[in-house]
Amino acid sequence: MIQIAVLGYGTVGSGVVEVINTNHASINKKAGDEINIKYVLDLRDFPGDPIQEKIVHDYEVIINDPEIKIIVEVMGGTNPAYSFVKRALESGKSVCTSNKELVAKHGVELLAIAREKNINFLFEASCGGGIPIIRPLNSSLTADEIDEITGILNGTTNYILSKMASDGSEFEDVLKDAQEKGYAERNPAADVEGWDACRKIAILSSLAFGNHVDFEEIYTEGITKITAADIKYAKAWGASIKLLATSRKVGDGFYAMVSPVMINSNNPLYSVNDVFNAIFVHGNVLGDAMFYGSGAGKLPTASAVVGDVVDAAKHLDTNVMVGWSSKKLELMDVKNVENRFFVRMGGSYTENLPKVEEVFGQVDSKVLAEVNGEFAFITGKMTEAEYQEKAAKLDDIRGMIRVRF
Ligand code: HSE
Repeated sequence: MIQIAVLGYGTVGSGVVEVINTNHASINKKAGDEINIKYVLDLRDFPGDPIQEKIVHDYEVIINDPEIKIIVEVMGGTNPAYSFVKRALESGKSVCTSNKELVAKHGVELLAIAREKNINFLFEASCGGGIPIIRPLNSSLTADEIDEITGILNGTTNYILSKMASDGSEFEDVLKDAQEKGYAERNPAADVEGWDACRKIAILSSLAFGNHVDFEEIYTEGITKITAADIKYAKAWGASIKLLATSRKVGDGFYAMVSPVMINSNNPLYSVNDVFNAIFVHGNVLGDAMFYGSGAGKLPTASAVVGDVVDAAKHLDTNVMVGWSSKKLELMDVKNVENRFFVRMGGSYTENLPKVEEVFGQVDSKVLAEVNGEFAFITGKMTEAEYQEKAAKLDDIRGMIRVRF
């Protein structure tokens, strides 16, 4: 029997217990041994819940129990998760976590401890919820030089953007509705400001490119400024607006960026809607691959965590993660990154278009009857720096969204 402990009985923690209870026979068969939850660490008590008999409030009980071989960390945040996980690995216990903040910030160090101890630090659930992406990058795609990862990595913002597109509503109204339905957190900043997607693309890029990508250096823009009018224009261009997290090799350099982007139906991420996530990967010998599925939520996330528990159980004394080096991957200044740009401008179309074309050259432009007092255009390809320089020459620019088509 392999004894495990679960740190945190919140949404994901209770999901982990549910998955292990629901599929215990097949999970044990795949692990080659019986997996038993011996402890669940939580500050709260759960009277009347069968979990109560496993609840402990003191981490020392778990860390000092030599029977515990695997610890599941699903508390979130870095404090106390970081010290708990570090101590677990140092004492020879493998750790499986869904905690993207922990992995983005301390992953290099924790992977190194696991390697030294010949145990495992696994984090499939930290990116893309239930979608397998860490394991493919760590094993199936190791023959490739990966040169691009672009993902819809946040379920909440994808739900909000999809709902804005289907209902024609404004951001604030959809966010309120999503909070009432429990899809969005009461404090939605990490999701809507793009910070959650930023941590996830930092982890995926570190793994794909082999050197440490510091999430604090990734240019990150959320979806709070996207309006119903932007979505109307996007539809007029046959496009949708998605929060994309991208990292890409350009020549000898790399850039990483999180921002809303207009994409059209030629892009495989175009029809990824609602809370679904998808990750597009391009490799130099593979070509294109895309991973799609349930990117958030209790059971999909727990499914990935328990998959890691099975892997850790099968490799109790063998380190299986390739991981990445602590050497920092230097990111290009995003000012040098090329895109096309969708721009909304106030005033008369006939009067202002000549000024726009004088500055930007030929553009693709539209006036919509349902959006008064303005028009919009899409520029040709140019760097961010060139765009900023040209846009500064025009008055009454009301918004800009990057375009990839
Ligand atoms: N808040 C995250 C999301 C949860 O909406 O995708 C999964 O990491």
